[in-house]
Amino acid sequence: MLVQIPQVLTAAQVSEFRQALEGADWADGKGSAGYLSRRVKENRQLPDTHPLAVQLGKQILEALHNSPLFTTAALPAKILPPLFNSYSGDEHYGRHVDGAIRPVTGTHHRIRTDLSATIFLSDPQDYDGGELQIEDTYGVRRVKLPAGSMVLYPGTSVHKVTAVTRGRRLASFFWIQSMVREDHKRMMLFELDRAIQQVSAENPDSEAVTDLAGVYHNLLRLWADV
Ligand code: NI
Repeated sequence: MLVQIPQVLTAAQVSEFRQALEGADWADGKGSAGYLSRRVKENRQLPDTHPLAVQLGKQILEALHNSPLFTTAALPAKILPPLFNSYSGDEHYGRHVDGAIRPVTGTHHRIRTDLSATIFLSDPQDYDGGELQIEDTYGVRRVKLPAGSMVLYPGTSVHKVTAVTRGRRLASFFWIQSMVREDHKRMMLFELDRAIQQVSAENPDSEAVTDLAGVYHNLLRLWADV
C-alpha cells in the first residue's frame, strides 16, 4: 500500500528546513548504506547524530504525532529518527531494498522497517528528475510530491531515486515499525477505518457505525503487537 499524506509540514516549516539544510555540511550518503546499496547510491546525507538532523527530526516527529492520516495508515509502534538527504548534479540512488532491521543510533534498540517514508522538502518545479520510483505488484509507481508532503510505502519494496539533472532535491526519509507488520492487514484496517469515517460523516446516528468500529478494533486487537 502506498499512501500520500499532504502537507505534513507547513509552508513556514518547509522554508525553515530548506534554509537550514541548504547551508549544512553534508556527508557522502554511502556512509550509511549496506554493501549492496553502496554500489548504486550517489547522494549526500546528514549524519544521524548531526545536531541539525536531530533538531529538524524532532519537529517531524511532532508533526507526525498530529497527523491522524499518518496514524491510521502507519499504525506506528516505533519511528526511527528522521534522516535528511540531498541530490543534485546527477546524483541518484539506484534500484535497492532497505535493510529489514535498523539500529537506533546511540541506543541498544533496533526497529523493523515495515514502512519507509519520504517527506519532500523541495518544490517539484525547482528540480528535474529526482523521482522516487517504487516497484509494486501493479507496476512502477512514480512519486514526486509538493514540498511538505509525504509518501509512505512498504519497506519490502524495491525502489530507486532517479538522477537529479537540474536544481537540488532535499528530503527527509525514515522508517517505521508498525504495530501491524503485514502490509495487506494494515491496508485492510486503513480502508475499513476510512469507510467507517465516511459512513459516520454521512449518517452520524447509524448504529452500524458502532458495530463496524467494533470490528475494526477487534481486528486490531487480533493483529497488533504493541
Ligand atoms: Ni531506500
